[in-house]
Amino acid sequence: MKKITIAIDGFSSTGKSTLAKQLAKKLHYIYVDTGAMYRAVTLFAMRAGFVENSKIDKIPLIDSLDAIDLKFVFNADLGFAEMFLNGKNVEKEIRTMPVSKNVSQVAELELVRKKLVGMQQIMGADKGMVMDGRDIGTVVFPDAELKIFMTASPEKRAVRRYKELLDRGEDVKYADILENVQKRDYIDSNRAISPLKKADDAIEFDNSDLGLEDQFQRIYEHALRII
Ligand code: C5P
Repeated sequence: MKKITIAIDGFSSTGKSTLAKQLAKKLHYIYVDTGAMYRAVTLFAMRAGFVENSKIDKIPLIDSLDAIDLKFVFNADLGFAEMFLNGKNVEKEIRTMPVSKNVSQVAELELVRKKLVGMQQIMGADKGMVMDGRDIGTVVFPDAELKIFMTASPEKRAVRRYKELLDRGEDVKYADILENVQKRDYIDSNRAISPLKKADDAIEFDNSDLGLEDQFQRIYEHALRII
């Protein structure tokens, strides 16, 4: 079996990471959640006081990029890697609503993208990996052998995210989540650098009405045809 790169891009809360984790496990591949990296940089900016009234103070953040150390550390109990920011596990903090509200502004910054894309290309250099994000099939690995582009209606995605955050004990409102999902879609799709868009050779996958198992089977079959 040959090792390939699997790029999974798409809108927020389309279930990219669930699917990517399942695929990585089945194929014994590494899984990389690139959204976690943008979220960790955002958490750093918030903790450093570079975010005020939902606006990012770009210059000090860019000046601090060398002081932001990001690492994925594999957690054998969970079966996937967790994000560490400057030596501390930040998995929980990076998934909260305040981070979700600021992350798309941080992800618009050219030098932030340059740093993170460079790291992602190094992590994926040996193939045998499933990476999910917004620009994996278009920018990070334009030569990926399998590219999936996931979509679903904003309402379906907001319901999923709402349940997920409630399960984690966050006090959230459905309307806020729907607004956040739509806002991020807009910023991510319209930014000047590496906007979210389907690569020409990606397989589009609308999972509004598909269960997890069905989704997994269909994409796994695509992978088996290539490897
Ligand atoms: O995937 P997730 O929803 O955690 O991503 C959070 C945000 O990070 C996205 O809304 C987007 O602004 C940014 N992102 C990006 N490029 C990626 C992954 C995430 O711009 N490859």
